Amino acid sequence: MSLPKRYLITSALPYANGLKHVGHLAGAYIPADIYARYLRAQKRDVVFVCGSDEHGTAIPIQAAKEGTTAQAIIDKYHQAMKEDFEDLSISFDVYHRTSEPLHHETAQEFFSYLNDRGELEVKETEQYFDEEAQTFLADRYIKGTCPACGSDRAFGDQCESCGRTLSPDELINPVSTLSGKPPVKRKTSHWYLPLGKHEAFLREWILKDHADDWRATVVGQCKSWIEGGLQSRAVTRDLEWGIKVPLQGADGKVLYVWFDAPIGYISATKQWALDQQKDWKPYWYDRDTQLVHFIGKDNIVFHCIIFPVMLKLHGNILPAFVPANEFLNLEGDKMSTSRNWKLDMRDFILDFVKQENGGAQCVDMLRYYLTQIAPETKDSEFTWKGFQDAVNNELVSIFGNYVNRTWVLMHKLCNGKVPPLHNELLDDEDRQLIQDIADSKTRVETLMEGFKFRDALFEVIDLSRKGNQYMQKKEPWILAKKLTEQPDVQKQIDNCMHFCLQLTANLSILINPFLPNTARKMLSMMKVVDRMLDWEHAGKIKLLSVGYSLRAPELLFRKIEDAEIVAQVEKLKAGLIKTTETTGGPAATILTEAPAQEVAKPLIQFDDFAKIDLKTGVILSAEKVEKADKLLKLSVNLGTEIRAIVSGIALHYKPEEIIGKQVVVVANLAPRKMRGIESMGMILMAEDASGKLHFVSPEQAINPGSGVS
Ligand code: MF3
Ligand code: ZN
Repeated sequence: MSLPKRYLITSALPYANGLKHVGHLAGAYIPADIYARYLRAQKRDVVFVCGSDEHGTAIPIQAAKEGTTAQAIIDKYHQAMKEDFEDLSISFDVYHRTSEPLHHETAQEFFSYLNDRGELEVKETEQYFDEEAQTFLADRYIKGTCPACGSDRAFGDQCESCGRTLSPDELINPVSTLSGKPPVKRKTSHWYLPLGKHEAFLREWILKDHADDWRATVVGQCKSWIEGGLQSRAVTRDLEWGIKVPLQGADGKVLYVWFDAPIGYISATKQWALDQQKDWKPYWYDRDTQLVHFIGKDNIVFHCIIFPVMLKLHGNILPAFVPANEFLNLEGDKMSTSRNWKLDMRDFILDFVKQENGGAQCVDMLRYYLTQIAPETKDSEFTWKGFQDAVNNELVSIFGNYVNRTWVLMHKLCNGKVPPLHNELLDDEDRQLIQDIADSKTRVETLMEGFKFRDALFEVIDLSRKGNQYMQKKEPWILAKKLTEQPDVQKQIDNCMHFCLQLTANLSILINPFLPNTARKMLSMMKVVDRMLDWEHAGKIKLLSVGYSLRAPELLFRKIEDAEIVAQVEKLKAGLIKTTETTGGPAATILTEAPAQEVAKPLIQFDDFAKIDLKTGVILSAEKVEKADKLLKLSVNLGTEIRAIVSGIALHYKPEEIIGKQVVVVANLAPRKMRGIESMGMILMAEDASGKLHFVSPEQAINPGSGVS
């Protein structure tokens, strides 16, 4: 397959209504940045765009909260977000904003283009109206109970708890967020995008063409949308704040924020082209452009269904990939702005990056951890302990340690220069290392092209681990002791250090997309120019020339101390108490709220459910697993066979208590190794509010192996 001629990479435009947290960073910004940096290193033609999303009801609502104007809010948060992204080395080619006239014109042109061609419908409907405030209640001006998850933090456009897209009519017990009163219905007319007309296209394009090369989570969400019946979507609103509908007689109407915001990707590209004196059109019209949207999972329908239909109607290219990420939880609970359970990018910047003690390194340390736990296929979790472990046990102890050892030894045993290679002495270990370097490059490439950044990063760290092993086998420091008696040993030392240095050069290239500041520091230690980081150099072992003298080592990463993470966890909990106090809620109940229970999973089809083979079983024996205080090893009678299953219930049940217990087993779960024991299935357990686990078992005795559905 031939390569695309150019790439356009987008990260979801963040709402300019507040600071963004590390969940956003891990979901839409770091992965996009990794991809952009990787493509740039490949010398491909790439533009990476983003900007602030400054319309929608979220903005004036925030303004009311802060007692200021909508304009002041977007100015403040646009600037703040832009700075935060810069501080975390997110390398947008342009960071635009949707309040710019260029964007207003672009969005209005887009709307008119569709409307002029009869692709929009005008419909009169009844919509919620606040009689006290004398205004229609769009999106976030209306609140109620979520029909999907039952949370009371659901708005007219989306549920804050489960992320489901909603329309005001779906809310149970709706109230106006302006007056707090239940609204009435009034007639109004709006422009609609008739998605139903495009069902065949969407089925073909997503469910057929991209069934295999898009993430299963993305295709799955699209599928349930399509199968759920595609409704016409209103693309205008009765609001003050927004982009005016460019038609006569449309006073008081603006474009719906989700209509204008994705067009912001186009306006941003135009702005970039103006600044760079380039042509923006090929990026949006030429089929040789690969368009990639990086987003969080709550944005899937807009980027995979609605915006593509708009793009198709407007004659633009369609996204080639939409690598949406799942959510990042924090210390056992869902991240939430309203409950202040979050880690803002800004807080990390102030507490770590702007500190004297190795501040700049902290950017890469955070980028490392967020990539290592990236929620690529399922929700994942940020914990401060996890951050500390990732930094101290991987970055410092493996990668950093390897580079540092190499540098120290090279200065000590090779006069600070790249030693010569003595080919006649090459042995199997050397050859293996050369092979590992080449293989690693290929594997990282494949993973990057498949948007598997987490695995790609693992591969790079693994290569440095192999470097440590190589050095450990060669033991140049031991060889050095023999030098006085056998001066020839220097040749073996030379070879070892030669390869260790070439490996370091490779590591700088491979780590660059992920940890760009680290790569630069390595360049400076190697005293080489930026060009070294060009991807074409990776996989090779002649990057540093013999005799070249190198600088002194610099510490790549500092350790994270226990005290630092304790302080952060305290701070997080204190923030939660503070919000509960100001909102009047009892702190204690919030603190003990069951973690992440409200995270509703996306709809699945019956077929998905039918894939799970549930069977009843009886526990025949149970024993503790050594060195694992949570695990019990069970043998379970499934009627036709007896299975070994490892279950995380040891803190809740003693082995002897559960012999003879009837259970429900997921019988076709792929085997998993836990503490060296292969677990052949899973027992279903229910968790109560205190976190205690209970068996799910048939009411009466039933034959083991009976089907459950
Ligand atoms: N502001 C939206 C959010 O934070 C994302 C907009 S993405 C765009 O969920 F495509 F509309 F720009
Ligand atoms: Zn919900």
